Amino acid sequence: MKMIAPTPPMGWNSWNTFGSNIDERLVREVADAFVTEGMTKAGYEYVVIDDLWEADTRTRDGRLTWDDSKFPSGIPALADYVHSKGLKFGMYSSSGVRTCAGKPASYGYEEVDAQTFADWGVDFLKYDYCYKPLGVSGPMLYRRMGQALRATGRPILFSACEWGHNDPAKWGRSVGAHMWRTTGDISDSWESMIGIALKQGGLEDYAGPNGWNDPDMLVVGMHGRGNVADGGMTESEYKVHFMLWCMLASPLMIGCDVRSMSDVTRQILLNPGLIAINQDPLGVQGRSISIGEHDWHGPNYQVWSKPLADGSVAVGFFNLTKDADRGMLVPWEALAIHDRRPCRVLDLWTGEDLGVFDRYFEARVPRRDATVVKISPLPLVAAYAEPVRAQFGSGDCGECN
Ligand code: GLA
Repeated sequence: MKMIAPTPPMGWNSWNTFGSNIDERLVREVADAFVTEGMTKAGYEYVVIDDLWEADTRTRDGRLTWDDSKFPSGIPALADYVHSKGLKFGMYSSSGVRTCAGKPASYGYEEVDAQTFADWGVDFLKYDYCYKPLGVSGPMLYRRMGQALRATGRPILFSACEWGHNDPAKWGRSVGAHMWRTTGDISDSWESMIGIALKQGGLEDYAGPNGWNDPDMLVVGMHGRGNVADGGMTESEYKVHFMLWCMLASPLMIGCDVRSMSDVTRQILLNPGLIAINQDPLGVQGRSISIGEHDWHGPNYQVWSKPLADGSVAVGFFNLTKDADRGMLVPWEALAIHDRRPCRVLDLWTGEDLGVFDRYFEARVPRRDATVVKISPLPLVAAYAEPVRAQFGSGDCGECN
């Protein structure tokens, strides 16, 4: 069976900026922007409508239906439009009796709703956790919808939005989810973003092809406006946010208004080097290595590593302080690379080749900023062209005699 999410899903979701202000014109214009802004080319694929698309009541035959005033042409026509742009179409429901915004949801209707979504041409379902009936197991609710989606026969990406309440990283994959929210909702502030990013530590081994930890949608480019407004961030803080989500192998669901991105927002969200490490086929979630025995710099200066499929390692240097620039260093031994193996270092933000280094690499990182590099061991033959003894300096062999 073909995997639905071999690499972290990439797309856009209406919630962060638009909340209840959604309609078919917005969704069509967003789909257009995927093409005209180069988002499709960069890998973004899913256009997802979040909560508040629903009519207040089900149809007489018990089906969910759309709010006519927002979607006069109907959801199937909108799905067709999104598909005509070569994109995939996503929708939203909740596992309880109502959605978080109080609309009809799928508890007890899992099979009919899954079939309705499939009939409409839906490719992605975000499934929330509000209004859960008392006494019903949370994981069971997701198991029911996962089962119902599979039974439709349509490949539908299942995005479990359970906020981390019952450790979904442990069971998300087995209920058929392809991504699972690990935390509460993000808002457009540094504190919210960094708090969520650091809570992903410890979940690394649950992520991998076809099942990803989801630290929520991106707020890059929102600049303090929109539905999850919370003061906003500076451009370099948004850059740190995106770099963290890329290192985390997190789904990249854009939350800003993609019809009017600034140049910097575009530069962040469409950065090819960073997207490549997020989408790396090995599918390993990056982790902080600057803890415990490697706490070289203190908790506000984090070094993260993410092994890649080609044998290289992506390394992120995150300066989380507000007040001090800092030189930050990573020794090869902390990356599981032989300390004398020469490695090429590429700056992933700029694409610049920084040259060949051995033993360690040091980056100078401004306050509230980050550098992400790709460290690639040179081919073995070239690396060991010199006799091995010579690499240890004096030639003294210590214990070898
Ligand atoms: C919850 C989710 C959000 C969003 C809203 C919609 O809060 O976590 O991502 O979907 O519901 O009401």
